Amino acid sequence: MKVDEFLVERWMNTYETDVELNLAETCVKPFTLREYLEFVNRPDFFKEYQDTQLTYGHIEGYDELRRGLATLYKNVKHEDILITGGAIEANFNSFYSLIEPGDTVVSVFPTYQQLFSVPKGFMADVKLLRLKPEMNWLPDLDELTELVDRKTKMIVLNNPNNPCGSLINEHTLRAICEIAEDVDAYVHSDEAYRGLYINPDDHTPSIVDIYDKGIAVGTFSKPISLTGLRLGWITSNSEVIHQCKLRRDYTTISKSMLSEELAALAMPYLSHIFERNNRIIRENHKLLDDWINNEPYMAHC
Ligand SMILES: Cc1ncc(COP(=O)(O)O)c(C=O)c1O
Repeated sequence: MKVDEFLVERWMNTYETDVELNLAETCVKPFTLREYLEFVNRPDFFKEYQDTQLTYGHIEGYDELRRGLATLYKNVKHEDILITGGAIEANFNSFYSLIEPGDTVVSVFPTYQQLFSVPKGFMADVKLLRLKPEMNWLPDLDELTELVDRKTKMIVLNNPNNPCGSLINEHTLRAICEIAEDVDAYVHSDEAYRGLYINPDDHTPSIVDIYDKGIAVGTFSKPISLTGLRLGWITSNSEVIHQCKLRRDYTTISKSMLSEELAALAMPYLSHIFERNNRIIRENHKLLDDWINNEPYMAHC
């Protein structure tokens, strides 16, 4: 498999550890271990864990974790959630499981490069659905209709979008799903930032709650601030998840049991963590906005 260089990752690798202020970072301030264990009321977690054998984790993911994550959706059974190594492994698994040479994949652009470069690596014919400022960086549905045809295996969304910050609302998501359904295509939605909203009235449903052939990807890195645990998940209908399990056996075996046990502690506190994080991004958004408005160089970019 030939694959294009993942430009943002190479660039971050060069600069991110040497700068004083990292404006390219997209996680919400990760917890320190101490702060996290206090937040979830388990300050003695490591003492309690001392005699636990450090062996493989659960193959499909720790049950308690999957049950907790299922509460983020309306129609998802915990058995249909697979724990992965971040959203990045979840995205990869979906493309690895479903994309074959000659399929057409339509991906929004700009977005996280993995979402169009990996399908291209699996020899799909990738068509880009360009997001434009005059459309508030949202998909143009007429253009999408033109791009899809009977060979379209998958439409790829990133909702909320990195880097545009745009949010596809329920009405538009449903319209996209109708376009997908007409050609029997999957809709893969990278929902790494779902739950983080600058505007408190914003909200977006998950693709899996509105379309049977929807595939949703989530992560502990962004809205849950546990980036260092390197965990994420993928969910879809049972048949898709079965295909993902078959591929995952070749890439993953299991995730780290320690990471999963730590992540599971967050499950009863998810709404508090989302509150903490939305407070942080709203404060930081104001700071960034003020800085951009008062920085002549930025204002003229
Ligand atoms: C849209 C999107 N998807 C996936 C990822 C990968 O995240 P993770 O840390 O969960 O692997 C990122 C990271 O920046 C991202 O922005």
